Amino acid sequence: MEKMKIFFGLVLSLLFVSPSAFLLNDRRLGASTFPSLQAEKLIRQLNLFPKEDVNLVDGRQSAPLLAGTGKRIVEKRINLLRESGGGVSVEDLGHHAGYYKLPHSHDAKMFYFFFESRNSKKDPVVIWLTGGPGCSSELAVFYENGPFSIADNMSLVWNEHGWDKASNLLYVDQPTGTGFSYTSDKRDIRHNENGVSNDLYDFLQAFFEEHPKLAENDFYITGESYAGHYIPAFAARVHNGNKAKEGIHINLKGFAIGNGLTDPGVQYKAYPDYALDMGIINKSQYNRISKIIPVCELAIKLCGTDGTLSCLASYFVCNSVFSSIIAIAGDINYYDIRKKCVGSLCYDFSNMEKFLNDKSVREAIGVGDIEFVSCSPTVYQAMLVDWMRNLEVGIPGLLEDGVKLLVYAGEYDLICNWLGNSRWVHAMEWSGQKDFVASPEIPFEVDGSEAGVLKTNGPLSFLKVHDSGHMVPMDQPKAALAMLRRWMEGSLSEVPAGSGKLVAEM
Ligand SMILES: *[C@@H]1O[C@H](CO)[C@@H](O)[C@H](O)[C@H]1NC(C)=O
Ligand SMILES: *[C@@H]1O[C@H](CO)[C@@H](O)[C@H](O)[C@H]1NC(C)=O
Repeated sequence: MEKMKIFFGLVLSLLFVSPSAFLLNDRRLGASTFPSLQAEKLIRQLNLFPKEDVNLVDGRQSAPLLAGTGKRIVEKRINLLRESGGGVSVEDLGHHAGYYKLPHSHDAKMFYFFFESRNSKKDPVVIWLTGGPGCSSELAVFYENGPFSIADNMSLVWNEHGWDKASNLLYVDQPTGTGFSYTSDKRDIRHNENGVSNDLYDFLQAFFEEHPKLAENDFYITGESYAGHYIPAFAARVHNGNKAKEGIHINLKGFAIGNGLTDPGVQYKAYPDYALDMGIINKSQYNRISKIIPVCELAIKLCGTDGTLSCLASYFVCNSVFSSIIAIAGDINYYDIRKKCVGSLCYDFSNMEKFLNDKSVREAIGVGDIEFVSCSPTVYQAMLVDWMRNLEVGIPGLLEDGVKLLVYAGEYDLICNWLGNSRWVHAMEWSGQKDFVASPEIPFEVDGSEAGVLKTNGPLSFLKVHDSGHMVPMDQPKAALAMLRRWMEGSLSEVPAGSGKLVAEM
C-alpha cells in the first residue's frame, strides 16, 4: 500500500508537466530538468560537444549527396584514409557513405557508412547500431569496430580488429536527428521502437535493392547499450517482414546485443546487487537503495510494453536507483568502474567530432553543411517513453524460429552490467530455457587465454567479457572480433584443444 502511495504521488506530480512540452521543448524547460541533465552529462562524459542538439534543418537545406538526384538512396565511394591525410593510398577500399530518404516520414534522411569486407564479398552483412538513445554510430566506427581509428595526429590508421575483416559492415545514424541523419520536420523525431524498427527495415530494403548480391549473404544485427532496445525490435521487424513476404527476403541469421538495456525490470533490480558485489556501495547503502526497487518494479509493470505517461513515470522512479548509486560512487566512470571520470569526462571521443567537422571530410562523404550531432539530447528525451519498455518479450519467437541471439557484456560496466543481462537471459521463457540454464559455463578462449566466460545452448548464447567496460570492441578488440567471427560461424562454444576446464559459477 505504502509503495502504491509513493508511486501515485510521483505520477501525480508528473501529470503537471505536459508530456508533449516535456518531450519536444527541452529548451523551454531548461537544463535543470533531470533528463536533459542526464543527456548532457552523458554527452559531456564522452567529451562530445555537438553544436546542435538535434539535426533539424531548414526545409531548403539538404546534403549535397542527395541534392537534385530525385533518388531515394544515394551512395558514394569514399576514401577516408586519403581525406585524413595520413593513410596509405589504396585504390579501392570498397567504402561508401550514403543517404536514404525515409519513406514513412515527412522529410527524414538517414545517413550511413558501408564498408565492404576486407576479406570477402561473400561475408555476412552486419549492421551496427550505437545507443544513447541519440548517439551516432560513428562512435563505433572510429573507437570500436570500424575499419580504422583516429590517431592523435588526426590521421586514420587501420584497425587490425575491425569487424569489416569478417563482414560487410553497415553503420546507420538513427533515430532521425542523430549523427548526420536529419529532417526539416520535427514530427519525424521517433518516440518508440515501432518508429525505429520500421525506419531501419525500410532502409535495409532499399540497401539490398541497391546491392542485390549482398542480399544473398547472411545478415546479422549488432549494437550496444540502448540498442538493447533497438536490436530485438529490428530483428522482429525483419523476421515479420520475411514471414509476410514483404519486399526483399533478408537472410536474418542472428542478432547480438553488447552491454544492452533490454529488460529494464530485471536490469534495474540488478543495479544494487552489482554495485554491492563490486564494492561500490556497502550493505547499509544497499539496503536503503533496495527500498526503491519494489516501487520501480510496480512502475515498470504499469508501463508494460506500450504505455506512455506511465513509462515516463517509471523512468523517473527507476532512475533514482541508479542515481543513488552514482551519488555514492562519486566520480566513478559508470561505463567502466575501474576508471575515474577525469574532470567531468569519462572518455575523450572529441577527435571524432573534429574529424567529421573537417571540410574535406564533409565534402568527401557528401554531407555539406549538415551538422554532425554526435549525441542528441532531443532524441534522447524523445525516447524516454520507450526507455522502460521490456524488449525481451519479442525474443522467444525469434529463438523458436532458429534466429540466434548473442548477449555479451564487458564485466566492469555498471550502467548495463553483465549481472542484469545474465539474469534476463536466464529468466527468458522459451522452449530451450531449461537446457540453456543447465548448460555449463565454459571459458571463451582467444589465443590461448581466457577472454570471457560463455554459456550457450541452441540459438542462445551469453558471454561475459573479461577486462572490459561498456564498449567491448574498444576495450577488447581482438576478443570482440573473434567473438563475432565464431558466433557467425556457429563455433562460439568450441573450446580450443587442451582447455576443457569448467569455470566457477558467474
Ligand atoms: C600519425 O600517427 C600515426 C599513428 O601513430 C602514424 O602512423 C602516422 O605516420 C602519423 N601521420 C603523420 C602525418 O604524422
Ligand atoms: C557505509 O558507508 C557509509 C558512508 O561512508 C557509512 O556511514 C556506513 O557506516 C557504512 N555502513 C557499513 C555497514 O559499513
